[in-house]
Amino acid sequence: MNTSPERTPLVELREISKRFGGTQALNEVSLSVSSGEIHAFVGENGAGKSTLGKVIAGIYAADWGELLVEGAPVERWNPGIAQRRGIAMIAQELALVPDLSVAQNVFLGTEQHRLGWERRNLAERFAALETEIRFGLDPHARVRDLRIADQQKVEIMRALARDARVIVMDEPTSSLTAKEMEQLEALMRTLRDRGCCVIYVSHFLDSVLNVSDRITIMRDGRRIDTVDAAAVTKQDVVTAMLGRSLGQAYPERPAPIDTAVPPVLVANGIATDTGVADMSFVVRPGEVVGLLGLVGSGRSECARAIFGVDRLRAGTVEIAGNQVLKHSPRASIERGFVLVSEDRHRDGLVLQRSVRENISLSSLRSVSASGVVRLRKERADAESLARALEMRPPNIELPVSWFSGGNQQKALLAKALATNPRVIVLDEPTRGVDVGAKRTIYELIARLAEQGIGILLISSEHEEIMELAHRAYLVSDGKTMGEIIPADTTVDDVLFQLFHVPSEEESAA
Ligand SMILES: Nc1ncnc2c1ncn2[C@@H]1O[C@H](COP(=O)(O)OP(=O)(O)OP(=O)(O)O)[C@@H](O)[C@H]1O
Ligand SMILES: [Mg+2]
Repeated sequence: MNTSPERTPLVELREISKRFGGTQALNEVSLSVSSGEIHAFVGENGAGKSTLGKVIAGIYAADWGELLVEGAPVERWNPGIAQRRGIAMIAQELALVPDLSVAQNVFLGTEQHRLGWERRNLAERFAALETEIRFGLDPHARVRDLRIADQQKVEIMRALARDARVIVMDEPTSSLTAKEMEQLEALMRTLRDRGCCVIYVSHFLDSVLNVSDRITIMRDGRRIDTVDAAAVTKQDVVTAMLGRSLGQAYPERPAPIDTAVPPVLVANGIATDTGVADMSFVVRPGEVVGLLGLVGSGRSECARAIFGVDRLRAGTVEIAGNQVLKHSPRASIERGFVLVSEDRHRDGLVLQRSVRENISLSSLRSVSASGVVRLRKERADAESLARALEMRPPNIELPVSWFSGGNQQKALLAKALATNPRVIVLDEPTRGVDVGAKRTIYELIARLAEQGIGILLISSEHEEIMELAHRAYLVSDGKTMGEIIPADTTVDDVLFQLFHVPSEEESAA
């Protein structure tokens, strides 16, 4: 808990409302955030958390209501003015310049950058920032070449470089490792103790409860409540978010499969230039197979290579008994193999196009008759997928950019399912998805497996694999190291024995 008695309101919202077309994203939200606090926003996908953050950071103008900064009402409000008033936002959709270096991105648009300070100076400033937060990024690396977790770190450094007093972090931890998440939590506490206000938007409720001082719960664009984090349980928060209690987090364990059936996917000796050294695994029809490993262990890289996005340096891939000779996403999809990528914007969705168009982009074959897209079938298929995934708003004609982060994730899943796959690789399928919608996705995975579809599941939430998979491979340093049956072991055993995660004393030694 924060012991500092000195809390002055930095930003105050009075009856803020914001509408997008037919959606009331914010409905008369009143709220005040203070110096020296970590203030979490939680709520279901589409509840209005990101919109609220964007109003505070000047990215969106409210339709109605009043915004006060340090007690005084603001007349004009945009990102530039907000930045000068010490307010920064780390957006859910990363907004970096891919072709610039890490350091250039960090200082882009700051005073130093505009005055054209020398390169040396940039390096010095970067080093100063780095001593404080120790992310270990190479300042000269091109942002384009970084994995998402590292891009997220660049965004965080960018906000710090602006000396912000109010920092809105929208899902900053969604692709960080457990260790990086701890570092970030420590950083939030440091910022708070220095008198900043950190607004922390996250679906990781354990982390929210662990690090926040106060929690604001949003539902359907309204502020339902603001509570002291110390005074509530996770169950209380979930119930307030959903407006109902959520029973079990996971569905029943999957029924055993027939192991005599030949595999639908075989990967043998996979190696890539992106960090995969030697990975081999099989997936049988109806089997959920996990890849257990830490972020950076090569799981996603392997998935991208076998699907045909990145080059395969060595190894073979077989789908339903046939070796794949030409690797490309299109060829994979034609064979009934599809990947749901962890990076929904880079590999997944065209934001300006409607959900329906996105869903049918990779499945044109199945909806076209003699080369003509049969619109009606396309719409019906897309609609039933969107309904199965409980997308909100339930209108597939809206552009993807109109949907909240978690609902975009659902659109990505729908797009993959529309290809009628026999085997599907799910890379972080529940990233940014709320607790209720997670449950929907878990049930969907179980149902797909029951229908005989093979599923390769990659997730940094190891519990998901432990609860959903029939079998899992352990991945470390780009290699598959062994196999486990999740039903017979625990996450801790997996992490401690097989990866040999050093204990506190060991790492201190
Ligand atoms: N730019 C936009 N254009 C149209 N509608 C939008 C836009 N941004 C958000 N919305 C809508 O406003 C509502 C609130 O969205 P918001 O992104 O704030 O939700 P969220 O709480 O951040 O959800 P998530 O947890 O999925 O990120 C949703 O119904 C969403 O579809
Ligand atoms: Mg959001």
